[in-house]
Amino acid sequence: SDQIIIAPSLLAADFGKVTEETQRAVRCGADWMHLDVMDGHFVDNISFGPAMVETVDKATDVFLDVHLMISRPDHYLPRFIASGADLVTVHVEADHDVADTLKRIRDVGVLAGLALNPATPISEVEPYLELIDLLLVMTVVPGFGGQSFMEETMPKVEQAAAWRAARELDFHIEVDGGINARTGAIAAKAGANVLVAGSSTFCAPEMGAAIDEIRENAAA
Ligand code: DX5
Ligand code: ZN
Repeated sequence: SDQIIIAPSLLAADFGKVTEETQRAVRCGADWMHLDVMDGHFVDNISFGPAMVETVDKATDVFLDVHLMISRPDHYLPRFIASGADLVTVHVEADHDVADTLKRIRDVGVLAGLALNPATPISEVEPYLELIDLLLVMTVVPGFGGQSFMEETMPKVEQAAAWRAARELDFHIEVDGGINARTGAIAAKAGANVLVAGSSTFCAPEMGAAIDEIRENAAA
């Protein structure tokens, strides 16, 4: 697979010191920062909005991977783009014209991601593969950090990688939820190259060692 990208999830950081936590993640080897936006409607939790994205953007120049778990991504899109997102991922299950939203993201020079929940069949994203820079296969039911990796989602990663090769496309395949040094290796073997990791990085005794271990196991 491609170069492994490790994306610590800010959701597991101390929100009282977001700037320092972002700088710590970058110092410890984070390739991207993953920002989980939750609206209390699409998922059963509320996290943060564009103001937080802007704060994280000012902390470093790390690539910002913004994961919108919100019902109307089309409506809020301009605000997240203005806040400094480098990649915006929207859910296929949300209430919007998926193709139109993906095109609008790319039109302003931002990378476009499409996510699907564990219960959603991979066939739901097939019509959009030419419109995306990243496919996010959720490996937990979204809403909370600290849940267990669902290995039964791995056939979706394999199918996406097979379609990508057959169609000569080049989108990233990202996994999100319950990723650590053990499960990251399983996902990388299935074909994922972007590994989101919240608890296993921010809550580790040594974040740098945790990121190194995820990366090394995934590359093995
Ligand atoms: C889940 C979020 C994830 C979450 C991952 O709803 O999309 O990004 O923060 O957290 P961990 O790595 O702790 O499972
Ligand atoms: Zn996420």
